[in-house]
Amino acid sequence: MAFELNALPYSYSALGERGMCQETLELHHGKHHQAYVTALQGFIEKHSQLRGKTLEEIIACSASSASLGPVFNNAGQHWNHIHFWNSLSPRGGIMPGRLRDKIVEDFESVDGFKNAFRTAAAAQFGSGWVWLVLARDGKLEVTKTANGENPLMHGAQPILGCDVWEHSYYIDYRNARPKYLEAWFDSLVNWEHVEAMLGKV
Ligand code: FE2
Repeated sequence: MAFELNALPYSYSALGERGMCQETLELHHGKHHQAYVTALQGFIEKHSQLRGKTLEEIIACSASSASLGPVFNNAGQHWNHIHFWNSLSPRGGIMPGRLRDKIVEDFESVDGFKNAFRTAAAAQFGSGWVWLVLARDGKLEVTKTANGENPLMHGAQPILGCDVWEHSYYIDYRNARPKYLEAWFDSLVNWEHVEAMLGKV
C-alpha cells in the first residue's frame, strides 16, 4: 500500500481566527506531516514485509520491534496526524448533547474533562499527544503518549487527540502550551466529529 499525505478537510487559512494560523498549518501539515509520510514510504520500499499492510497493521507489527523503531515512529505519526486534522474545524467549539452526557457521566463535568486534558498536556514532558480514549471498561479516560505512540498500542480506542509537539503551537503561542490547549479545546475541536468517533466504537 502506498501512503500519501491526506488533504486537509479545510484550507490552510481556515483556522486562523480560531487560533491556528496559516503558517502553522503550512508547516505542520505541508512539511512535518509530509515528512512522516515520505519517511514511511521510504521504509516500505526497503522492508518487503511491510508491503501490502494497512497503516494500523504496520503500527502493530513495528511497535514491538527494535529494528523497526523508525518505521513505528513515522507510521504512528501519520496515523496520529490524520486523526488530529479530522478533529479540527473552522466551526468548532460546540459540544453536542450525547457526547456531553457521556463526558459528564465519566468526568463529572465538562470542566472536569477539560482540567484532566490540561493537566495531562502540562505533564507530558517533551513531544507527545494527549488523548480522550474509550477504555476497555467502556469509560472515557484522558491519557497521554510520548512521541509517535498512540492509545491503540495500549488497548484503548482513541476518540480525540491533541498534538502537543512544539511544531503544533510554537508559531501561534511560542512556548505557552497551556494557551494553545485553551484555544484548541474552546475553539478548534470539532466536537460533532468527536461524538461521531465515539459512536463508531
Ligand atoms: Fe504534529
